[in-house]
Amino acid sequence: MSTLITNIGELVTNAADQGGGFAALSDAGLVMDDGQVTWTGPASRAPAADHIVDARGRAVLPGFVDSHAHLVFAGERGAEFAARMAGAPYQAGGIRSTVAATRRAPELRAGLRRLVAEMARQGTTTLECKSGYGLTVADEARSLSLAAEITPEVTYLGAHVVPPEFDGDPAGYVDLVCGAMLDACAPFAKWVDVFCERGAFGADEAAAVLAAGQSAGLTARVHANQLGPGPGVQVAVAAGAASADHCTHLASADIDALAGSATVATLLPGVEFSTRQPYPDARRLIDAGATVALATDCNPGSCFTSSMPLCVALAVREMRMTTAEAVWSATAGGARALRRTDVGYLAAGARADVVLLDAPSHAYLAYRPGVPLVAAVWQAGRLVAGSAG
Ligand code: NIG
Ligand code: FE
Repeated sequence: MSTLITNIGELVTNAADQGGGFAALSDAGLVMDDGQVTWTGPASRAPAADHIVDARGRAVLPGFVDSHAHLVFAGERGAEFAARMAGAPYQAGGIRSTVAATRRAPELRAGLRRLVAEMARQGTTTLECKSGYGLTVADEARSLSLAAEITPEVTYLGAHVVPPEFDGDPAGYVDLVCGAMLDACAPFAKWVDVFCERGAFGADEAAAVLAAGQSAGLTARVHANQLGPGPGVQVAVAAGAASADHCTHLASADIDALAGSATVATLLPGVEFSTRQPYPDARRLIDAGATVALATDCNPGSCFTSSMPLCVALAVREMRMTTAEAVWSATAGGARALRRTDVGYLAAGARADVVLLDAPSHAYLAYRPGVPLVAAVWQAGRLVAGSAG
């Protein structure tokens, strides 16, 4: 069953043959068949299809690629957020309260599925999901087996923080993360991540965790330079990581390292919003030539939004990204951060991950912040949210 979406006011393609950056067609059509995009071009020249959707001048974008999320957890930290807004600082130690709740929880699937559905309604069609709130062999493996039910982009984050039972023996915990815990987790995961930060793991520990993960067949990504300057970005680039995430506190050498490597700088502006911190310098990264992705970091502590449209709006308003750059980073940029070549763009051969907006252009995502503009979402050609009427 082929479907033609016609009368598209603006079709964001990000297509390679339009330059490889943000690209869009006006008065366009798109055909999808058997889960893939089979044609894009001027609506007036669209081929026949079994089923027709009239976009009535509205915009169509590739589904958002949320390349950084922590969705397997129990409990919530609303009081911690309220205290922060009243002046308390964000501390990585808050992670431990979610770890305690997660270990206690009889089941974690329902909350995970609720968040995935919430993301789909907001246009996310590809998402990455980390462990990191279990921190025992059994609890990390449980988290990752659940994550693997909802996405292939599963990340082992045993090195999130040192859990309380290893207080005074961080080296013992790193050994566990690189040994028995990795053995139990690697079969579920594609990626290995480490929180390289003061109060979490230092450069040598982070490098050891990434090397162990890589020898188990996982590819590296790193939580880097979130709370202060530090070695995270350099560790990520040295390990050939797909992505260095946060990048809030960068030195010039970090920017140069990212610009000169294949490591994507993934910015998470919802975190700065929710922790009331200064935003990362997206302009400097882009102008230096780094590849920038945007993601939510959805988690119960530092940022409990699942909304890629919010991240686009924050990136435009607070990080001086253009509307085109922000939408590219939330789609094609996320795909680069996950080393995916089938998503983040709309042209023949792409997976049919398609978002229809209730708006005439992509710019409305920032122009009308907080307004639910996602009218319909197809994932691999299947309508998963909204309606196309
Ligand atoms: O990406 N930085 C480390 N981990 C999460 C925060 C997790 C939490 O506070 O529970 C993050 O921001
Ligand atoms: Fe994170």
